[in-house]
Amino acid sequence: APENRETWTGNTGFILAAIGSAVGLGNIWRFPGVAYESGGGAFLIPYLVALLTAGIPILFLDYAIGHRYRGAAPLAYRRMKKKAEALGWFQIMLSFIISVYYAAVIAWALSYFVFAFDLRWGEDTAGFFVGEYLQVSDPGVSTTIVSSVAIPLAVVWIAVLVVLALGVAKGVEKVNVIGIPLLGIAFAGLVIRALTLPGAMDGLNAFFTPDWGALLDLDVWIAAYSQIFFSLSIAFGIMVTYASYQRRKANMTSSGLVVAFANSSFELLAGIGVFATLGFLAFRQSVQIDELEGLTGPILSFVTFPAVISEMPGGNIFGAVFFASLVIAGFTSLISILLGVAATVQEKFGLSWRVSAISVSAVCALISFSLFSTTSGLLALDTVDQFANNVGIVLSAIVMSVLVVWVFRRGQLLRSHLNAVSTFHLGNWWLALVGIVAPVFLVIMLVQKLITLVSEGYEGLPGWYVGIFGWGTLAFALVMSAILTALPWKDRDDSAFRPWP
Ligand code: PHE
Ligand code: NA
Repeated sequence: APENRETWTGNTGFILAAIGSAVGLGNIWRFPGVAYESGGGAFLIPYLVALLTAGIPILFLDYAIGHRYRGAAPLAYRRMKKKAEALGWFQIMLSFIISVYYAAVIAWALSYFVFAFDLRWGEDTAGFFVGEYLQVSDPGVSTTIVSSVAIPLAVVWIAVLVVLALGVAKGVEKVNVIGIPLLGIAFAGLVIRALTLPGAMDGLNAFFTPDWGALLDLDVWIAAYSQIFFSLSIAFGIMVTYASYQRRKANMTSSGLVVAFANSSFELLAGIGVFATLGFLAFRQSVQIDELEGLTGPILSFVTFPAVISEMPGGNIFGAVFFASLVIAGFTSLISILLGVAATVQEKFGLSWRVSAISVSAVCALISFSLFSTTSGLLALDTVDQFANNVGIVLSAIVMSVLVVWVFRRGQLLRSHLNAVSTFHLGNWWLALVGIVAPVFLVIMLVQKLITLVSEGYEGLPGWYVGIFGWGTLAFALVMSAILTALPWKDRDDSAFRPWP
């Protein structure tokens, strides 16, 4: 097929779309809780180290591969070196797995946006969320459809399908050009409101008070690195795909710095807003912040926050804006994940963009539906998230940097590629970070994590359960990537392909 690849309308469109991918649920419900549990103010140190030594360097690596080889992850890696295709598929499989539960959380947020207007969750917000809304039964498998979840989930997937079918510039970029500024304004409003609540300062103190001892805990470092990878959407093959739609003359590294800075700012802002709000809750209940429960993950957004919103003067507006922000932030990330998957399927199977976009969204929607619109969704989510992000993506990043820098020796080539198109020039320090510092750190952390998971299990869940949803997730990604790599490419003659610049 001739190269008539779609492009973003320009650098600004690319940057906004990349920020849309980066800023997501991870910033709002992952970061504040992780930071609080992992040393508070002291967590900022491993967080910054992870950002500077691995996050930004690997973001640049993703960009370089996508821009030079102009393909979604499997094609781009294959063009670099034939055998590397499998790595691309592994990354895409991880994205695919994440999309399935990510969509469920956005669907919940959509419901809660509606519930906020009349504070429908009532007094017992935990009972409402788990019992009335999700109708969770024991950890087990069930086929009873919960319509309160199924309907918003259908809305989310239909929206994904439509945006994706419209394409890179008219679909994904458009949504971000509108959504990201809107999100910025909404979120700034929320943070300002939160800071003016009584007790807000105690919340901030709790959040920022450093526990220096945490720095000696390897798990805290693992948490920081995983947060950075998830948050920047790197090593998932998605930023490779995004960069592949950039034009030939595109300022890649400077754009990357803007994206990383915007994402971290948003994360810090979310931490401040969330803890100011929790400070108010503690104030209302006359307890200390550390006596509060449910400060992480979905529970923070769907149990703790609703409780605070109910107590706040004008809480319904605050609540509606909060859940609308979750929906926008999540949706712009979800479409980036699906864009990565759809582009991959399009290239491998020689499909038209539309056909690929529609079939990929339909398949993901179906799986998302069967797992999350039934009564057994909640627990699986946390386990899948843990294994995909704390193990899968770390493995992906290690393999990626070792292959590119040491096995295929493409480091200098990619460095000069980025320098030829960008205004922010990378020195050999970039190669040292990508090729040595990051993988060494990551290997130590991965080994430690695996030892803990094997010897202690996960969160006291039954072994068979962790086997299916935890290890099973990883095995599924590995096996699928082997199968997909083995399948032949349809209608692709790459002999005429010339890398840029
Ligand atoms: N970066 C997004 C967030 O912080 C999540 C995401 C992960 C998006 C992987 C795309 C790929 O929520
Ligand atoms: Na993020």
